[in-house]
Order: sequence, then structure tokens, then C-alpha cells
Amino acid sequence: MNHFEVREGELHCEDVPLSAIAAAVGTPVYVYSTATLERHFTVLRQALRGHNVLGDPLIAYAVKANSNVAVLRVLARQGAGADTVSEGEIRRALAAGVPPERIVFSGVGKTAQELAFAIDTGVAEINIESEPELDLLAQIAAGKGARPTIAIRVNPDVSAGGHSKISTGKADSKFGVSLAEAERLYAKAAASPHLNPVGVTCHIGSQITDLAPLEAAFAKMRALVERLRAQGLTVERLDLGGGLGVPYFNMPEPPSPTDYAAMAARVMTGLDIQFAFEPGRLLTANAGVLLASVIHRHDRPEGRRFVVLDAAMNDLLRPAMYEAYHDIRPVRPRGGPEQLCDVVGPICETGDTFTRDRMLPDLEAGDLVAFMSAGAYGAAMASEYNTRPLIPEVLVSGDRFAVIRERPSYEAMLERDKVPAWLA
Ligand code: LLP
Repeated sequence: MNHFEVREGELHCEDVPLSAIAAAVGTPVYVYSTATLERHFTVLRQALRGHNVLGDPLIAYAVKANSNVAVLRVLARQGAGADTVSEGEIRRALAAGVPPERIVFSGVGKTAQELAFAIDTGVAEINIESEPELDLLAQIAAGKGARPTIAIRVNPDVSAGGHSKISTGKADSKFGVSLAEAERLYAKAAASPHLNPVGVTCHIGSQITDLAPLEAAFAKMRALVERLRAQGLTVERLDLGGGLGVPYFNMPEPPSPTDYAAMAARVMTGLDIQFAFEPGRLLTANAGVLLASVIHRHDRPEGRRFVVLDAAMNDLLRPAMYEAYHDIRPVRPRGGPEQLCDVVGPICETGDTFTRDRMLPDLEAGDLVAFMSAGAYGAAMASEYNTRPLIPEVLVSGDRFAVIRERPSYEAMLERDKVPAWLA
């Protein structure tokens, strides 16, 4: 459920008509609903808390999905932690008020500087993805006289995820270490005076719409915890990652947070441990839309209809990169018969196509359209390709809205480039 609905003939975000935001801020623009963010977080937390075995788990929101500090703040106020993958994301989480003890630091290639920053920040857990990384962290920690808390990221060799580019849990993917390696590295870390291993973690993919692969991975993780404990090692935490899919309109409904929690509880029955989850998309995807304007409707005499928008693949990369489907809704539906359309952006490559051969209501130049479910991996993946400034972001709460990221000026964009003196 989300808070985008048509009222009095116009799509609203909560109590704000989207045309009011377009008029005030211009398009393209991302628009997020506070009530939806809060609702998604609450639904997940209640589902997880509904099972004694899961206790009161850490919900470390995967910042990469939508890293705007205001969005992070909404979730932090609800009690969310943060799953981060760079120093930049740690800094964003801290700026949003996420306490370090709720920040998890993941990623296959953390630099020495980033590891040192994480130690100094006192993050809850550094998720170690390889032996070289374990050694590097131990060396940095020794230099500082610190003993950072770590978990070992396991690659449970389970295939899952909506697209090959977002599947992370197969043995040949770059993420984590095998179950066998995890045992060896955990023991190695436990023997180090500079490391404090507290748990194991996994994340097998994103936009997962079937619980079976998650269940298989969770079962392997449980067995791993039991094996480690049988060796006399202390294992206090089990981080089960994110990955639960969301409905993108034209697909079967993914499992609900309730089903997901029930599955996790079933697999973990009798295991006394502190759980963590790292949802990204689940919390933010359906809490945001990309609002764009139609620049032209080009009806080719040979018969194809192109709807050319002011938004492009640099603003919302998912269709070009993953053939992702986003529902496209007119902000003020006119009624009348639907037509077969190609919806494209202005960028100079064919890949800048949001959809081909989609039946859409009549759209004319100047009309506003909303790409639904664009709150996750939308703004966060945007670039300035074709020297198009990053587009603004707006947060709605009830009948209020605020710009939470401004559209940069062209001057500010160009200012970043420096022509060396020898070319002057
Ligand atoms: N934890 C880790 C270690 C991750 O790598 C990810 C996502 C998550 C949690 C959150 O996964 P989620 O709950 O959002 O599925 N750009 C792609 C998705 C990439 C996901 C990368 N890792 C897309 O637009 O579909």
C-alpha cells in the first residue's frame, strides 16, 4: 500500500496534488511520501516482532536504495539502522541521526581509508567479504589499538533476484566467502587480538519474489552458526540481508513481509541469536515517484507513437539497465482509449527508452506523468550524462512538501570542471 492515489481527477502524493509540486519545483523531479516510508517500516517491524524467535531485530535500511538524508531521517526516527557500503553512505547515515551502533558497513572493496573511518566512527559491525579485507582491517585496527566488531559475509551459493545483474548469492559472484571459508576466517578473526567477530551475514540478491531461495540461504546460515558454536566460537548476531521484492504493477505479488517473517522464524526456531535485516527496496520503492512532463508526442506517419519526456535514463536508469518495468501514470487522466506508445527520454542513445509498445492513455505535450515505484534505486543511481543536472527531490508529509535536494544550477555544474593553466 502507498499514498499515491487519484483524487478529484488528479494523482496526489498524500494530500498534495502532483501538479502543485511540478509548478513549484519544475520537472523532472522525484517525489517521496513520508507516510508510505513510515508505513513500510512499521509493517516490516511488526511482521518481524510478531515472532519471539526473531526478537526485536535490527532493521538496517540499505542506504544505497535511496540515500537522501531527509529520507534517512524519516526512517531513523522510526528506529531504523543503516546498511552502508561506502564512507559517503556512513556519513549520510550519521547526518540523518542514525546512531553508529545501528550502522552496518558492507561492500566488497572497502578502502583502507574507509575501514579506518568506520573504526573511528564505531559502527556496529564491519561485514568482511574476503580474507585480504580481514587482514587489512586487522592491520589498520592494530595501528589504532582498536578492536572493531566484525561479521563475515557469506556467499551461500543460492541463486535469487529479479535480474542477473542484481543476483549476488551464487558461488561465482564477487560477494562474500564460501561457507567453508567463513568457518576458517571466523576462527582466524577470533584468534586475532585486533578483531572482534560477533556474527555472520548474507545477502543473496534483490527484487526476490519467491521465498524458496531465501529460505535455502537462511537454513545454510543457521547451520553455519551452529557449526561455529560447536567449535566453541561465540556467535551473537545473524544478519540475513535484504532482497525482498516489491510489486512493480505487472507482476505476481511478491511475498508479504508477514510471509517473509514467518519463514525466517520457522527456519530459525530454537536459535538464540540477535537478528538483523537489510531491506532497501521494500522500504522505499513504492514510497516514491518520478514526475516528468511530456515534451512531444510524435506520431510517426509509419505508425509508431513516441512520447518524449523531459526525464531520461540518467534520471531513472532501471529500465535501460535491467529492462525494469515501471508503471507510467498520467497525473490528470483524460479518459479516452489507450494507445500503443514508446516512452522515451531525450538522451542521444536508443537505450534511453523507458518502455516500448505499452498501452497508455492519451498523452499530449505538457502533460505530467508519474513513474511509479521509483523511490528505490531511482535518484540514488542518477548521473549527469548528457550534462543534465541531477534532478531535485521533494518530500511530502500530509499537505506539506519540501525540496530535500535542490536542482543544481548550470553554473554550479560547470564550476566543478577546471581547465589547467597550460590551456588557458
Ligand atoms: N544488503 C546488501 C549487502 C546489498 O548489497 C543490498 C542491495 C541490500 C542489502 C538491499 O537489497 P534490497 O532489499 O534493496 O533488495 N540497483 C538495483 C538493485 C541493486 C541491489 C544491490 N544490493 C535495482 O535497481 O534493481
